[in-house]
Amino acid sequence: MKRILITSAIPYVAGVKHLGNLVGSMLPADIFARYCRSRGYDTLAICATDEHGAPVELAALEEGVPVADYAAKWHAVQKDLGEKFGLSWDNFGRSSSAQNHELTLHFARKLWANGFLELRTTKQAYSATDGRFLPDRYVIGTCPHCGYDRARGDQCENCTRVLDPIDLIEPRSAVSGAKDIEIRESTHLFLKQSQFADKLRAWIDSHKADWPQLVTSIAYKWLDEGLKDRGITRDLEWGIPVPDDIADGALKGKVFYVWFDAPIEYIAATKEWADRNGHGDAWKDWWQGGDAVTYWEFMGKDNVPFHTVGFPVTIMASGEPWKLVDRLKGFNWLNYDGGKFSTSGKRGIFMDKALDVAPADYWRYYLIANAPEGSDSNFTWEHFAGVINKDLADVLGNFVNRVTKFCVARFDGQVPGEGDYGEDEHALIADLDRRIAAYAELMEQAEFRKAMAELRAIWVAGNEYLTRAAPWTHIKTDREKAAVGVRMGLNLVHQFAHLIWPVMPDFAKTIHECIQPVGYRGGVIPFPEEGMKVLLDDLTPGQPIRAPETLVAKISDEQVAELKERFGGGAA
Ligand code: MF3
Ligand code: ZN
Repeated sequence: MKRILITSAIPYVAGVKHLGNLVGSMLPADIFARYCRSRGYDTLAICATDEHGAPVELAALEEGVPVADYAAKWHAVQKDLGEKFGLSWDNFGRSSSAQNHELTLHFARKLWANGFLELRTTKQAYSATDGRFLPDRYVIGTCPHCGYDRARGDQCENCTRVLDPIDLIEPRSAVSGAKDIEIRESTHLFLKQSQFADKLRAWIDSHKADWPQLVTSIAYKWLDEGLKDRGITRDLEWGIPVPDDIADGALKGKVFYVWFDAPIEYIAATKEWADRNGHGDAWKDWWQGGDAVTYWEFMGKDNVPFHTVGFPVTIMASGEPWKLVDRLKGFNWLNYDGGKFSTSGKRGIFMDKALDVAPADYWRYYLIANAPEGSDSNFTWEHFAGVINKDLADVLGNFVNRVTKFCVARFDGQVPGEGDYGEDEHALIADLDRRIAAYAELMEQAEFRKAMAELRAIWVAGNEYLTRAAPWTHIKTDREKAAVGVRMGLNLVHQFAHLIWPVMPDFAKTIHECIQPVGYRGGVIPFPEEGMKVLLDDLTPGQPIRAPETLVAKISDEQVAELKERFGGGAA
């Protein structure tokens, strides 16, 4: 049996995530995980909150609460919102967990013992006003590469280059805005990444064919610029403390860099899952399962360097058989009305507010059908309303409502058994068998936009059939002919529910509750392995069905105007 391990980049615990975060990692990971479960693959979907480092300390400082309390509170909020969006993680862990402390130390000690870590005296930004070192995002300034004037000390979000705070032009403190940034010396642990350049290049070469070009091009850019050794400790209080047995206590009071411990949390969150559920060493079987396990990662493009260089080097340097990523699915940006989504600027749509506007399935479909796969994509309220109204309401929803309502009105809400399928039905079944196979292949490859186009084409084919079959016309003169159309229509409704489950689990469930097919018990709704054929007998002639309340409600022009007003618009 296929074993599929899935991780999505673990979101910083600071605050509610926006829809750009959702579509770039957690949502595609979930759709893929659900698809794998629907095929019966042994699937493990892991995510967590990223709780260490400057971004979190800074946010807690702003809220005026201890970092640990801050992290606990927002972890709970994110978990709740994720569940409301239908994100079906096997575990949504915390990078501050005991398991991650333990595993991070395990890796650090291995790396130290293997000679891949060394002490170096570094120059760090320090502010006398703040009375502290200012690592990473504690410094804001102008990017020396692209000129973006709000680049953070760890990375420029405009050009994605990884930075050092002391490289920034016109630096200022993110804590106080102080400009008295001076350079002081501080000792840190460095991971000798440069020694892995050839190994990494060979590994990335081996994935040229199965990683998106976006991903390989970012990875090669890094290698071509020459791999630098990387500081993996920081002058911070919040984080995983460096133990005394590494470097004879020379790093007392310092913690590991968040980007060192965060990816290790993928493994630790799997251990959290095993510990909580009494699965013993199962977490190790996943992570040291060799070729029996296919490991997929989902992330936005800013995270790609850390997953093609940083984390793989940690694993390679450990000398232990932990899995390296097999399939790395990276995404471009989703923009909001021509500008960036921005957490700090509170610009765009955040997960909590989104659910006030529309149910999760509307968002799941819209976002994945327009996922920023090949290039950035752009959210506008008009586009959102257009996709919901056309694809979901007019095509999918209307089909389900037409068939079920007509069955209730003219066949007493019972699956009609009269008549046999004719040429048109058999041709449709053959056509859909081909399309379902194509859809499955696209989902296997996590090619979401193309998969959604195929899914839509399947709904369209169903609608066209129903228009041809026109049971509402035949009912007056030929009840048997009408019965065939309704029975086929109900079977299509059932088929659609199976196909959409990975993307729109709530709709799939609602449909199943209405049509009550044989064997439905809730939970995972399996993929129709043999195309149409496998489901054609699951509705029994004479069994009752109900029509759902309007499956998908349209979004009116007035609502669009109101939403634009409420959420703001116009390029930033
Ligand atoms: N917290 C990071 C972000 O939101 C992602 C961390 S991914 C991991 O950009 F690999 F470090 F876990
Ligand atoms: Zn830049």
